[in-house]
Amino acid sequence: MKRKFSRRTFAKLAGVGALAATTELPQLGPTASAQSNMTTGREFPRGFLWGTATASYQVEGAVKEDGRGPSIWDTFSHTPGKTVNNATGDVANDHYHLYKGDVQLMKALGAKAYRFSIAWPRVFPNGDGPPNPKGLDFYNRLVDELLANGIQPFATLYHWDLPQSLQDRFGGWEGRETSKAFADYAGYVAQRLTDRVKHIFTINEFGAFIEVGYRWGVHAPGLRLTGLRLNQTRHHAVLGHGLAVQAIRASAKSGTKVGIAENITVPVPVVETPQNVAAAERAMREMNAQYLTVIMEGKYTDWYLKSNGADAPKFTPEDLKSISSPLDFVGINIYTNQFVRADESSPAGFAHVPHPKSFPHAPSPWLFITPDALYWGPRHVAKLWGAKEIYITENGCSAADEPAADGKVYDTDRVTYLRSYLTQLRRATAEGVPVRGYFLWSLMDNFEWADGYTNRFGIHYVDYASQKRTPKLSADFYREVIARNAIV
Ligand code: NOJ
Repeated sequence: MKRKFSRRTFAKLAGVGALAATTELPQLGPTASAQSNMTTGREFPRGFLWGTATASYQVEGAVKEDGRGPSIWDTFSHTPGKTVNNATGDVANDHYHLYKGDVQLMKALGAKAYRFSIAWPRVFPNGDGPPNPKGLDFYNRLVDELLANGIQPFATLYHWDLPQSLQDRFGGWEGRETSKAFADYAGYVAQRLTDRVKHIFTINEFGAFIEVGYRWGVHAPGLRLTGLRLNQTRHHAVLGHGLAVQAIRASAKSGTKVGIAENITVPVPVVETPQNVAAAERAMREMNAQYLTVIMEGKYTDWYLKSNGADAPKFTPEDLKSISSPLDFVGINIYTNQFVRADESSPAGFAHVPHPKSFPHAPSPWLFITPDALYWGPRHVAKLWGAKEIYITENGCSAADEPAADGKVYDTDRVTYLRSYLTQLRRATAEGVPVRGYFLWSLMDNFEWADGYTNRFGIHYVDYASQKRTPKLSADFYREVIARNAIV
């Protein structure tokens, strides 16, 4: 089953979009380190962190091992017709057993960081209640292996594998109890891992797991909520993030940094006139109102509340304070854009410019090839909210990878994609946008949710029958990028 909509333009579908109060915008300009590094026009700032990313349910397998409880993705993927070819993550890449070899793949790339996620149901099989120390042990082993190989661990606490028990008892994120349970789990993990894990992401992609899972029914738990129920679910998710930030701060070792990994909708001025740029900045706040805007500003935009009327989420001032707990860094997952233009006739001051039917896209139908998203995304985050440390926590593309006669995958489409996107990212760093690192999605092909194993995003090809990993041409490309700290 393919997604039939662009999950990254849900804000548009929600009818979000009025002019918000204009904020004073900080000026951006090349930093000293960026300037001193701008000799060839291709180099990234010194110390730029190159990494790769994966997520627990997409790679680990071993779903019944060492006391792991069931997650909503186990239930969903085992429900006939929910994923392409009824694929499940039961085995996936068997990373649970093969992680040492996978760390060697990273090492061979020269990567200095790895973003992985922790499966909540391994640590708390029921989501709350008694912990399962054997579950956390896997991450202890993984972290030690990474560090022994000179790779910094960046851990995500929630990448969609919600313990099934929380779904059954509280309706998952529909219930405030889940936000609270998430914070307890976050504090528990932080206490035990932050002697070695210095960067923690709370939640990955509200804009996907809520919209696609609780609104469109295409991902787990497969619900189609509307109105107040949907808005309250969105609210509980950002609240869970905020409470988790507080719990991590309370229990982590000093020097631990906390942030988020959000798939922001990236408004790009369709032609770079000053009017269109201003319109894109306004659009950024409104199109991300339910998630990153409230996290960064501590309030829902007037238009979000007004346009939802009686269906607007119910919250207390205390909720907003928790939700906007200060972050050490902002992680953004960027794949595609949303073109906008200035529109004086709209109270929002901007209008969407939809991608025409002929617009090039990857095999994933939502993934329009728009390299400029990797310039405008971080630029908006820095300019609107003054973020001082930004990571591109995911970027990459699906491709119709086929091994050639020599066994290699010549994914020139992925290489072209990466080169074009990195060129735009480099434009941002050269202008002083404080992007500190980039995590390529993905280290290897894996379980692509409802698309099963049909859409490959990896820079290593995975033969699922033998679990053999083979570097694709894009892995060779990325190794060169990392070695030179520059676009090649
Ligand atoms: C976003 C998600 O975080 C990840 O799980 C997914 O596989 C990639 N993007 C590609 O769709």
